[in-house]
Amino acid sequence: MAEQLRLGVNIDHVATVRNARGGALPDPVRAAKLAEAAGADGITAHLREDRRHISDADIEALMETLTLPLNFEMAATDEMQAIALRHKPHAVCIVPERREERTTEGGLEVAREENRLAHFIAPLREAGCRVSIFIAADRAQVEAAHRIGAQVIELHTGAYCEAYADGDDAAQAAELSRLTDMAALAHSLGLEVHAGHGLTYGDVGPIAAIPEIRELNIGHFLIGEAIFVGLEVAIAEMRRIMREARG
Ligand code: PXP
Repeated sequence: MAEQLRLGVNIDHVATVRNARGGALPDPVRAAKLAEAAGADGITAHLREDRRHISDADIEALMETLTLPLNFEMAATDEMQAIALRHKPHAVCIVPERREERTTEGGLEVAREENRLAHFIAPLREAGCRVSIFIAADRAQVEAAHRIGAQVIELHTGAYCEAYADGDDAAQAAELSRLTDMAALAHSLGLEVHAGHGLTYGDVGPIAAIPEIRELNIGHFLIGEAIFVGLEVAIAEMRRIMREARG
C-alpha cells in the first residue's frame, strides 16, 4: 500500500496580493496558520531574488510562529544560502530562478552543475536542513540529484498540468508516464519523492496515485480557489481528492 501523502501549501501568492497594494494585508503568516488548521502538513514559501512576493520579514515571521515544517524554496545563490543557514528551516528546496519568468518554469539543471551544487548543498545538509532539488522528470537529473547528496527530489508537474489544461490527453499521458517512471527510479535510489507545480483539483488525482510520491506542494490554485470558498475549504477539498486517489 502507498505511504501517506503529505500536502505542503505554498503561500507565495498571498504575499503577491499584499504586494500589489503595499502594506501588510493580506498576511501570509495568517494564511499559513489557517492552512495548518485546515490540515496542511507543511508550508512552502519561495524567497525570490527580486522579493516579488515573499519577503525576508515573512520568512522570519514564519520561522518564529509556525509549528508546521517550513519548506524554504530558494535559488542556489550565496545570498539565499546565507539566509537558509541563518534560519535553518526544516527543508530547503533548490529551484532554478530567472528574473523575467512569471513562475518557476522548469526544473534545475543538476546534471550540468553537479560539482557546484554538491558543494552548495553540503553546508545546508550539515545545518540539519532536508535538501530537496526541484527537477524535471528526467533520468539524468534524477541520477545527478542522487549523486550530489540531495535527500529529496521534487518533480516538476508543470508540463503534465499544461497538457491537462489544453485537453491534450496524449501529452498528459506521456507526462504522467515520465513522472511515474522517474518517481520509481528516484525511490529505488533512496530519494524521497515530492511533486508540484500547477496542480489543481482536476489533475491532482493521477499524481497523488503514484505510490512513491510522499508530498505534493500546491500554491497558486489553492490561493485562487480560496478567494471563492476560503482557504480551509479549498485545502480540505484538495486533501479529499488526494486521499481518494491514493486509495
Ligand atoms: N513546488 C515548487 C518547487 C515551486 O517552485 C512551486 C511554485 O512556486 C510549487 C511547487 C507550487 O506551484 P503552484 O503554485 O503552481 O501550485
